[in-house]
Amino acid sequence: MVPFFRAADVEAAVSPERAVEAVREAFLAYARGEWSMPPKVYVPAYPAGDFRAMPALGAGHALLKWVTSFPGNPAQGLPTVAGIVVLSDASNGMPRALLDAATVTALRTGAAAVLAAETLGREDASQAAVIGAGVNGRAVARTFAAVGREVVLWDVDAERARAAADEIGAGVAATREEALREDVVATVTPGREVVVAEGALRPGQHVSLMGADGPGKAEIAIAELARVHVFCDDWRQASHNGDLVHAVEAGAVGQDDATELGAVLAGSAPGRHDDEDITVFDSTGLAIQDLAVALAALERAAELDLPQVPL
Ligand SMILES: NC(=O)c1ccc[n+]([C@@H]2O[C@H](COP(=O)([O-])OP(=O)(O)OC[C@H]3O[C@@H](n4cnc5c(N)ncnc54)[C@H](O)[C@@H]3O)[C@@H](O)[C@H]2O)c1
Repeated sequence: MVPFFRAADVEAAVSPERAVEAVREAFLAYARGEWSMPPKVYVPAYPAGDFRAMPALGAGHALLKWVTSFPGNPAQGLPTVAGIVVLSDASNGMPRALLDAATVTALRTGAAAVLAAETLGREDASQAAVIGAGVNGRAVARTFAAVGREVVLWDVDAERARAAADEIGAGVAATREEALREDVVATVTPGREVVVAEGALRPGQHVSLMGADGPGKAEIAIAELARVHVFCDDWRQASHNGDLVHAVEAGAVGQDDATELGAVLAGSAPGRHDDEDITVFDSTGLAIQDLAVALAALERAAELDLPQVPL
């Protein structure tokens, strides 16, 4: 029998603060070479969306997340991101838990956006803005609030931004431009159009680009990416998908221009240079982040009334 963490169980097991801590440890373990992560496999089902198979190994466990990104789903009352996580014992291969992939994804995406912002943003940064108030945008905003940062939301769908803000106890930005002026910004849009245009950012800002995590997506103009101090979650993955790939293909950004977040956390690479630096973190979403959250959930399994699945 294997426990199944439904969405509410994952939320009950792992707080946003715990997710930030767990994801920080995962980035460090990966930077030290202790955790490994074969490349994410994209299975395109365009124009509707794509599937991703995301494996990772670490802390005596192996994980596979089978998850989607179907951007048109909300119009049909379905989530953009859905799927399942399988967590196995790496000593004998036996499954240890099944988890709702959307909730694990939201928690670890919120954690990565906030971890990058807290690591790379200015020490005196004040309010954060989250652009895109869907499932994962709300998770990012909730995580900012959980670490004590004031947050405002903006979405092309004003009602959605208001509802998310009310739920989290956050504010609402009047315009996208207003949101883009905050010291710390996270973009969590479908990546179908550029949110951060050339010249949009000012000295001292930090942006966590979370939405463009797959082929053909972008949230920042190539020229803007070429102008700022670039960080990413994993060069191998980020240089092939999402925002960075466009700048890499255009020859505007190369591997030497982009620093992995784990290297900054480990102290082996510099982060923000000074108060004038504009830092941008490109996230494509890593399976090690999912492993971190799944392991944090497993720690609490005995305290929860989880359904057991015969396997
Ligand atoms: N980097 C990662 O680790 C990671 C993890 C999960 C999801 N994602 C990606 O993040 C994106 C959002 O995912 P989601 O599950 O929150 O989707 P969602 O459909 O729930 O929400 C998207 C939101 O963005 C809004 N939006 C659309 N265009 C916009 C624009 N130009 N400006 C502002 N808001 C806009 C929509 O109204 C909607 O509220 C997807 O592309 C998804 O693949 C990335």
